[in-house]
Amino acid sequence: MKDSVDIERLQAEIDTLAEITEVEPPAVTRVIYSEKDLAAREQVKFLCGEAGLQLREDAVGNLFARWEGSNPTLPAVATGSHIDAIPNAGRYDGVLGVLGGLEAIRTLQSSGFQPRRSIELIAFTSEEPTRFGIGCLGSRLMSGSLSLEQALALEDKENRTLESWLSSTPFSDGDRSRILLEKGHYHAFVELHIEQGPTLEEESLDIGAVTHIAAPAAYRLEIIGQGGHAGGVLMPARHDALCGAAEFVLALEAAAKNSGSPDTVATVGVLQISPGAINSIPAQVTLTVDLRDIRLDTRSATWETATAALKKISADRGLKTSVATINQDPPATCGPSLVETTVAAARKRGFTCQRMISRAYHDSLFMSRIAPTTMIFIPCRNGWSHRPDEYSSPAQIGKGVAILADVLKEIASK
Ligand code: GLV
Ligand code: MN
Ligand code: MN
Repeated sequence: MKDSVDIERLQAEIDTLAEITEVEPPAVTRVIYSEKDLAAREQVKFLCGEAGLQLREDAVGNLFARWEGSNPTLPAVATGSHIDAIPNAGRYDGVLGVLGGLEAIRTLQSSGFQPRRSIELIAFTSEEPTRFGIGCLGSRLMSGSLSLEQALALEDKENRTLESWLSSTPFSDGDRSRILLEKGHYHAFVELHIEQGPTLEEESLDIGAVTHIAAPAAYRLEIIGQGGHAGGVLMPARHDALCGAAEFVLALEAAAKNSGSPDTVATVGVLQISPGAINSIPAQVTLTVDLRDIRLDTRSATWETATAALKKISADRGLKTSVATINQDPPATCGPSLVETTVAAARKRGFTCQRMISRAYHDSLFMSRIAPTTMIFIPCRNGWSHRPDEYSSPAQIGKGVAILADVLKEIASK
């Protein structure tokens, strides 16, 4: 019997999955419900099937792979993450939690361990907001944080609804009443993930035991000015929507920098200019704001400052603006005993470990609403993520998977 992680197998599986991409490797793009996303799911299902796990997919494509415990009526212990990837991403974000979760299960299987509680691996649908503008769709739906009706009506950039996208997937005729899981359905949820920040690497730590997950908010702004000929309209007569947007972006940056919380972060990652011609004054700008903090008071105050600035900019420049809230989620507090189980597991193996917060959001943010939840972080090179050169070494991954296996073993035995 072997009870160590097969890191070569896992790395090969991560690399193989990375070849299923909509762009030139090594960049990985897998947008939810695309042909590549569906192909990647098939690959994960194949591997889970090989490991003897029982597969189930819900009606939006959340994938569950179950290792039945000796007492199958007890709430299961769940682990997992996502396999969708934002444009030009790397190969580890999310995938580590799915394939690493599978490797943790296989490690326990080959050690001869028999879980009392079933262990379920979950690959969540659409953790990334790429297609529908809102992240963690699968876990929001599972935890009742978003209604199915709202989700089905979400639209992509071409105004195609989620309902329409679903109709071209193999799971579309699933039982929609089974998507929502009640509180207590799972005994615990533990997600393995790369840190996506520099702390672990900078401090030469093997493992982060996540105690809190920062609260994300997202907004969509429309700024409407007046278009016109780039040569013909003199500067005093202009109502340039992009100049207003530019001022707003800087006001938002200043508000986040001066919030009084070191954890406030604000990003404008999408800016669409209409009509978008070199010789035409921008008549309309659509932009998105991603605003996060571990504290709700400083996040709210930052947003109030930014929207007050927007009002003034609009008045000064004669622009019309509208703001739509995409999501405003509270932070999550992880299950204290799960955090301590992680810390103890790391200590036992002689791995260095620190309690820390997650600045990125994850499906764990929503799973924490229905089950005690924590995350296990491993370092990634330079803290880089959401870029093709995202990297964690096989040794770092092996340690993360070993700790995940230890934690799953401990809680699935109770
Ligand atoms: C998840 O990908 C995030 O943006 O935090
Ligand atoms: Mn991500
Ligand atoms: Mn992720």
